Amino acid sequence: MLGVNREVTMSYAVITGASSGLGREFARALAKRGFDLGITARRVERLMELKEELTAKYHVDVAVYPCDLTDSLAMEGLIDSPLFDRPLDLFVNNAGMGHRGLFSSLSAKDVHVLLALNVTSHARLLHHVFSGMMQRKEGKIINVASVAGFGPMPWLALYGASKSFVLSLSLALAQEGRSEGVTICALCPGPVDTEFFESAGVTEFHFKKTLIAPETVVKYTLDALDKGRRVAIPRALFRMQRLVHALIPEGLLTRVTAHILKKGL
Ligand SMILES: NC(=O)c1ccc[n+]([C@@H]2O[C@H](COP(=O)([O-])OP(=O)(O)OC[C@H]3O[C@@H](n4cnc5c(N)ncnc54)[C@H](OP(=O)(O)O)[C@@H]3O)[C@@H](O)[C@H]2O)c1
Repeated sequence: MLGVNREVTMSYAVITGASSGLGREFARALAKRGFDLGITARRVERLMELKEELTAKYHVDVAVYPCDLTDSLAMEGLIDSPLFDRPLDLFVNNAGMGHRGLFSSLSAKDVHVLLALNVTSHARLLHHVFSGMMQRKEGKIINVASVAGFGPMPWLALYGASKSFVLSLSLALAQEGRSEGVTICALCPGPVDTEFFESAGVTEFHFKKTLIAPETVVKYTLDALDKGRRVAIPRALFRMQRLVHALIPEGLLTRVTAHILKKGL
């Protein structure tokens, strides 16, 4: 645990996957709003750089706890760490990864790692935080899902399924928390300009025009959370996509999706 403890006076948020992309932008936006932060990811240098930036700019307390969330023992260590000692006002359950390619082309390790991060660690951390908030009868959570969670995603099958899990769980808990003072929002972005595609093995990217800046996604999501929305889909095009998924037969939609995703993204 690399951080400074001080009197608990400010709102406090924990963000997973804060070393890059959306997580880093959530950290910046929340520090600007005056939140003290707990940030985690594997790359400790990145986290320390972010801590330095945010403490200098916004004079907030930033605690750093490096953790590989695919390692269940390490994750339990994170839960027991001082990062989760303070009552949480906001939890951004963001860390995630993708794998492009036929499901049969993934190694057994690929399958294990993706599920350990996107599903197991997501649910375990959510369970810990949600239970505490339900007891205190207050708190807010952002679960980072994806438009890929709206329906079957051939060529991104496991990723899509993991994000359907995140979306479904988030919507169910939003209902359970509703009468108990706990607000939950599932963020479902389309393609965002982060390191995600590189790590997901996406070499050809045909949808550059649909790429959205992480800052825009974060602003949209925090506004949606403030309004008590259960789902934040930061672009009209993708809000329509959700409708299309509800209206068009699954078989047809899956064939069209396969046709698009086979070529790249
Ligand atoms: N970019 C998109 O187009 C897009 C669209 C929809 C949804 N999303 C979702 O948005 C979330 C954030 O992704 P991003 O776009 O910001 O991508 P990113 O820049 O690649 O960020 C992913 C974050 O997750 C962390 N992470 C990866 N593996 C980890 C592990 N084993 N243990 C702990 N942390 C780990 C990474 O940190 P370390 O590498 O330092 O561990 C990094 O901070 C993900 O859940 C993703 O599925 C992204």
